[in-house]
Amino acid sequence: MPSSDAPSIRPRRLRSTPAMRRLVAETRLHPAELVLPLFVREGIDAPRELQAMPGVRQHTVDSLRRISAEAAAAGLGGVMLFGVPAVRDARGSGIDDPDGILNVATRAVQQEVGDALVVQTDLCLDEFTDHGHCGVLAGDGSVDNDATLERYRSAAVAQADAGAAMLGLSGMMDGQVAAVRDALDAAGHADTAILAYAAKYASAFYGPFREAVDSQLTGDRRSYQQDPANRREGLREAELDLAEGADVLMVKPAMSYLDVLADVAATSPVPVWAYQVSGEAAMIEAASANGWIDREAAIHESLISIRRAGADAILSYFALEVAERLR
Ligand code: PBG
Repeated sequence: MPSSDAPSIRPRRLRSTPAMRRLVAETRLHPAELVLPLFVREGIDAPRELQAMPGVRQHTVDSLRRISAEAAAAGLGGVMLFGVPAVRDARGSGIDDPDGILNVATRAVQQEVGDALVVQTDLCLDEFTDHGHCGVLAGDGSVDNDATLERYRSAAVAQADAGAAMLGLSGMMDGQVAAVRDALDAAGHADTAILAYAAKYASAFYGPFREAVDSQLTGDRRSYQQDPANRREGLREAELDLAEGADVLMVKPAMSYLDVLADVAATSPVPVWAYQVSGEAAMIEAASANGWIDREAAIHESLISIRRAGADAILSYFALEVAERLR
């Protein structure tokens, strides 16, 4: 007779061996659901390492081509390209110039990888403006929503012309998805997909990214990116973007916003992605460099947690190394 306190229900049975654990895993990672963010800088002749993100570089167009080919060989789902122009101005002229660095790089990568990867571009003005904001400014210095939409329309057509298959709308202007969809359709780019950064929060975790794009920003983005205090608002932003025609919804950052991610994933009829942003990667790198956490285990756990919360795919600076480990 077992004593009365011997449990008959034992969840540990399914944790007993590696084979059992593998069989019952609810979530797993696959290279095809990872997207690698990449930076390309105009006017440099060799790639530059970033201080705040070990292993991440500002690429030349040539080195960007090479790493994109590696990403394709590793079976990644896509790359997300960010441009760092040599010259900036108030309206971000480089973004819709066919000879602007991001458009030049997009053509090069598209030519290199063909259909092996989904080539995506960041559609936002902050990398291209001399004031560093994601939009153009009104006379009083505030970000002018509707004037910015005109710039996004033009940028979208230029990026689609350059060969981007999916545009990442990260500027958080009201009505940006509808405006870009309309501009793309009118220009004969009905097949270009829109990845809407639906719920994007004004986050301290973008810190290292500012170095990656040599951001000129003074002040903050709180008049357009969301307040970290707000969960319900994330769902509202997602619903609006869906109604405006978004093909994919994104939540960003990832780890501090898993509740928002789970909310959006619970109701979205389109794919939901998450962005493990620069500061999230930097924290893992810094702690592991100090010997405080196991780097590979922490990377894997962070990504699996983002998947578990509901992300169908993840943008991550670790995408390439993780895909290579998964092979
Ligand atoms: C805007 C943009 C940002 C990031 C991606 N797109 C910066 C911002 O909103 O301030 C941050 C990504 C990261 O931190 O890794 N173009």
